[in-house]
Amino acid sequence: MLLIENVYAGYRDFDILKGVNLKVNPGEIVCVIGPNGAGKSTVFKAIYGLVKIRQGRVIFGEQNITNLRPQQILQAGVAIVPQMRSVFPQMSVRENLELGMYLEKNQQRIQKRIDYVLELFPKLAQRQYQQAGTMSGGEQRMLEIGRSLMLEPKLVMMDEPSAGLSPSMTKMIFENIVRLNQEIGLTVLAIEQNARQGLESSHRGYVLELGKNTFEGVASELLQDQEVRRSFLGG
Ligand SMILES: Nc1ncnc2c1ncn2[C@@H]1O[C@H](COP(=O)(O)OP(=O)(O)OP(=O)(O)O)[C@@H](O)[C@H]1O
Ligand SMILES: [Mg+2]
Repeated sequence: MLLIENVYAGYRDFDILKGVNLKVNPGEIVCVIGPNGAGKSTVFKAIYGLVKIRQGRVIFGEQNITNLRPQQILQAGVAIVPQMRSVFPQMSVRENLELGMYLEKNQQRIQKRIDYVLELFPKLAQRQYQQAGTMSGGEQRMLEIGRSLMLEPKLVMMDEPSAGLSPSMTKMIFENIVRLNQEIGLTVLAIEQNARQGLESSHRGYVLELGKNTFEGVASELLQDQEVRRSFLGG
């Protein structure tokens, strides 16, 4: 579904990514782990057209999406949940979901889709008229994931879904990602500093270090790998 081939990208004239290769198959949850500053968010930004790719390419389905604009990539069927909090705190849960479809004019279509997303997240449905900013961090993250589903994406990319969340909220978020994967076949590419939690919830994983992927494999095997354990999972 998504193929990242030998991608070089960075900021100003300096390469942060130096030949990244990743693959996401339909129906998979794939997790990219790696230390702070390894370039995980830069991979994300490069795929999404926020950082220029200088060499290599990104293929989504049949389409070459290398260096397309974020809007075009969204239209191709890739949605994102960014690393920083992105809900609009003064707006209700419902209004936040509506923003996930801001180009759609047909109110009926929008409301139908909101109801569909709320069905997937009963916790959000209970709070649909609550101000988003008054919800817990985990609930806000869930809302961001819900909003990313508004345009019926084929793939959702999540940059550190656990960022800033307590261990129990982190667990809840990953349980929801696995549930969406099972219930609606959602394909997910997650970038995660919380390596153990990320891999435990994924089918396959990649390790990114200094702008290159160094290990890859079935997530459960990476979790058992001596070197991966020593370097990234705390022994
Ligand atoms: N806008 C920018 N301009 C210049 N350098 C940047 C910019 N954004 C990131 N970098 C640098 O690129 C490198 C990789 O950053 P990136 O955010 O991709 O890392 P990361 O793996 O996502 O880290 P973290 O786990 O902390 O989120 C870092 O050295 C960072 O300082
Ligand atoms: Mg990051």
